[in-house]
Amino acid sequence: MIRISSLASSVQPSATLAAGAKARELKAKGVQVFDFSLGEPDFDTPKHICDAAERAMRSGQTHYTPAGGTAELRKAVANWYGKTYGHQCGPENVLISNGAKHSIHNALAATVGPGDEVVIPTPYWVSYSDLVRMTGAAPVLVETEMVSGFKMTPDQLKAAITPKTRLLMLNSPCNPTGSVYTRAELEALVDTLVSESDAAILSDEIYEQLTFGDAKPTCVVTLRPGLKDRTITISGASKSYAMTGWRIGWTVAPVPLIKAMDNIQSQETSCPSSVSQAACLVALESPESVKSLAEMRAEFAARRDLACRLLKEIPGVQAPVPDGAFYVFFRVADHFGKSFGGKPVTDSLNFCTTLLEQAHVNLVPGSAFGVEGFVRMSFATGRDVIESGLARLKDWLGSGK
Ligand SMILES: Cc1ncc(COP(=O)(O)O)c(C=O)c1O
Repeated sequence: MIRISSLASSVQPSATLAAGAKARELKAKGVQVFDFSLGEPDFDTPKHICDAAERAMRSGQTHYTPAGGTAELRKAVANWYGKTYGHQCGPENVLISNGAKHSIHNALAATVGPGDEVVIPTPYWVSYSDLVRMTGAAPVLVETEMVSGFKMTPDQLKAAITPKTRLLMLNSPCNPTGSVYTRAELEALVDTLVSESDAAILSDEIYEQLTFGDAKPTCVVTLRPGLKDRTITISGASKSYAMTGWRIGWTVAPVPLIKAMDNIQSQETSCPSSVSQAACLVALESPESVKSLAEMRAEFAARRDLACRLLKEIPGVQAPVPDGAFYVFFRVADHFGKSFGGKPVTDSLNFCTTLLEQAHVNLVPGSAFGVEGFVRMSFATGRDVIESGLARLKDWLGSGK
């Protein structure tokens, strides 16, 4: 008889992927769905990166690579940090994994376990709490407010720290809110952490190249000289280079942690895909990537402006303008307690399922990110879809009684 382990039973399916699946079901029946649920660029991987993959395949780069990634890619990632942020590190500080989610999993597996606490500001990316729980450690959720731009304050952090705190997880630009902490805000947080505990920082910077207007990404490890020894930086190719399906993420951290993660990875997956690593090397080093990234960023910025302008016109919706990533996280709680097509809506989950069923607009409930009263809209979709989908949302909300 097959029994499901308590570990597997305790893990929730990824809510964003589940929402995407439901929309696909409707689409398969021929229904036109306005899908704002998925967390990936809608652009295809730029041609010069695909060409590099083809060259790699044809030249025999089809074998296992070292568990933690090829020497060339590790060096390229280390160089990128030096060039981009002035963060001096070497290939020995870098581990390549099968996507940034895998990097986070391995970093958590190598640093925390039963009895440990991990502080996570909410709203947070769906996977954080489950990934922490899988190690046996406990997530400690810190609720942030819309009025403070969904950013954790040093006082909130201080209140969450206990003698069991081992790790603080940060994510700027943030999924789902699009918030980007300023350098000064991050300095205040890390100073609080350092003065109140000996906990480490896991900084998920996967959306670092997608910021808009004056907002700038900050590489947390560069904030203070002593942070090198206690900061784990996570990022990857998925969002910056539209390479979600290639599964390349990385960790930049002190050598002992990289070695520990390398050991885990060697038993777990042997190595990341050789072809994807060769493609990622070109993504990081080619000047053509700078151009394709700039084009993608400009289009996201235009869509953000469009989505926020249209959302502003909808009664009972409060939508803070995001500074990064490709999400708007907006408040719909004013519509709770109403009935739509005879169906009462009381929380973000039944708001989203009723909206999808009745108006074929797909949003992700705030509850999936640890917060009620809000929904997440991804604007990684065409402007026509944004215009038509938000017009439908407006009409549907107007039908509530
Ligand atoms: C905040 C955040 N971190 C990490 C990831 C994982 O990225 P990858 O596709 O490289 O595993 C995502 C993907 O949605 C994300 O939103």
